[in-house]
Amino acid sequence: MEHPIAVIDFGSQYTQLIVRRIRELGYFSKLYQPSELRETGSPAAVILSGGPRSTLEEGAPDIDFDYLLGMGVPVLGVCYGMQLLNRKFGGEVAPGNTREYGPATLMIEPEVESIFSGLKGHSQIWMSHSDTVSKLPEGCSVTGRNLDGIPVALKWNETFYGIQFHPEVSHTEEGADILRNFLDLAKDLPKFKIDSFKDELVEKVRAEVGGRKVVCGVSGGVDSSVLAALLHEAKVDTRNIFVDTGLLRKGEGEEVVSLFGEVGIEIETIDASERFLTALAGETDPEQKRKIIGRLFVEVFFDAVGDDVELLAQGTLYPDVIESATSGSIASTIKTHHNRVDRIMELKAEGRVIEPLDELFKDEVRELGRVLGLPERVVGRHPFPGPGLAVRCPGEVTAEKVEIIQNADAIYIDILRERGWYDRIWQAGVTLIPTKTVGVKGDERSYEDAISVRAVTSEDAMTAEWVHLPYEILGEISNRILNEVAGVNRVLYDISTKPPASIEWE
Ligand code: XMP
Repeated sequence: MEHPIAVIDFGSQYTQLIVRRIRELGYFSKLYQPSELRETGSPAAVILSGGPRSTLEEGAPDIDFDYLLGMGVPVLGVCYGMQLLNRKFGGEVAPGNTREYGPATLMIEPEVESIFSGLKGHSQIWMSHSDTVSKLPEGCSVTGRNLDGIPVALKWNETFYGIQFHPEVSHTEEGADILRNFLDLAKDLPKFKIDSFKDELVEKVRAEVGGRKVVCGVSGGVDSSVLAALLHEAKVDTRNIFVDTGLLRKGEGEEVVSLFGEVGIEIETIDASERFLTALAGETDPEQKRKIIGRLFVEVFFDAVGDDVELLAQGTLYPDVIESATSGSIASTIKTHHNRVDRIMELKAEGRVIEPLDELFKDEVRELGRVLGLPERVVGRHPFPGPGLAVRCPGEVTAEKVEIIQNADAIYIDILRERGWYDRIWQAGVTLIPTKTVGVKGDERSYEDAISVRAVTSEDAMTAEWVHLPYEILGEISNRILNEVAGVNRVLYDISTKPPASIEWE
């Protein structure tokens, strides 16, 4: 993709969503830092994002305005981006007394030609800012106001537009139309078509690999599966390694091998279950458990492939790239063991890591998997945590507990598939509650385990809602687990949203 729509990141929590929305409109878009403006090449359009700082602060993020002007393409400033542009054009911005956060109304100025054509006269928008535009430069027109008559949308000339609100968040009801109208000002919009993207990607991978031998760690998850399929399509000499930690779903190892077999991809399985269980014995601290698994995973992997890997392929996605650039994000910590461990960082520094999926979002990866011919059973899979069932087994992980979780989980997932719920859910699984509760068995009191069942919907795993499964299905899940899984006498359904809960219990 040669001329993506460049989104310049001034640090707003919503910036990634702008890219996402543009891709949903069918165009290719990428995120750049303000200092990378020249590296955008010749984009079809530029969007300056919002940001948490004030343009009035010393050292606030800036843009090379002369260069931006010289690019001759449509530019849209959003929130911080609008205030920055207003100052660059010679106008002024003043500190607001309070932060305006939440819903507001956009009243369109009908007589000015703007990026609001086809919109309702009054449209709900989402605001999140404190500074306001206090003086307009000469030649600038107001294209929209809020209910108090304050300008919330500006036009400095035929190609430079600004909006004080966020078109990318779903609370802005006509946000997608606004973005589309803005993009209509651009020439040669880069269409994002997964088919042609696949062909480009195959070429790119071939060139990048350049005849070297590639090692690819597959987990059975969507990202690494699509990566393996892409390497296969590119006819690259690849060893696909599947580390069985013993913390996977029931039968997962065999299923992965057979599903890949269907499309002609060979997988080498390393059964390291014993090593993992031994290393985890006696450990109850969640962070320590993660660390043990992470360390061992890399150890087992490099034991198998040797230290002199020519090229390592990783299924890092676009959100991972962006999130790990934001230090301290949860996402960057949870991924630690997979993508960022020392050995891998060394390989990366030596130019021996390729991450061909690093421009794609999850659903684009799924689509790519489909055009590469992967079975729906692979591309439609729910996300599964790297440390596996260990995060669904609070307290010490033992072989017995893992078996109970696997058995209950298998029943649960089967029912979701049979009842047509699996594809409507972002992620589902069961957790073993680390406490024995009383029950009756025959005439006696028994103390056995309790299982918590969880199903959530989510867009990005940062927030989640619990799924309102019908009572009959919950009843069926409970009956079958209680009858078929030895050692369980109680089943609960988790009705916690994230936040404040998380998806996994740890
Ligand atoms: P939480 O529990 O934080 O999970 O709400 C958010 C998403 O991340 C997955 N998850 C992990 N994925 N390594 C991973 O690759 C991990 O250590 C890890 N911990 C949680 C979780 O399953 C959910 O999809």
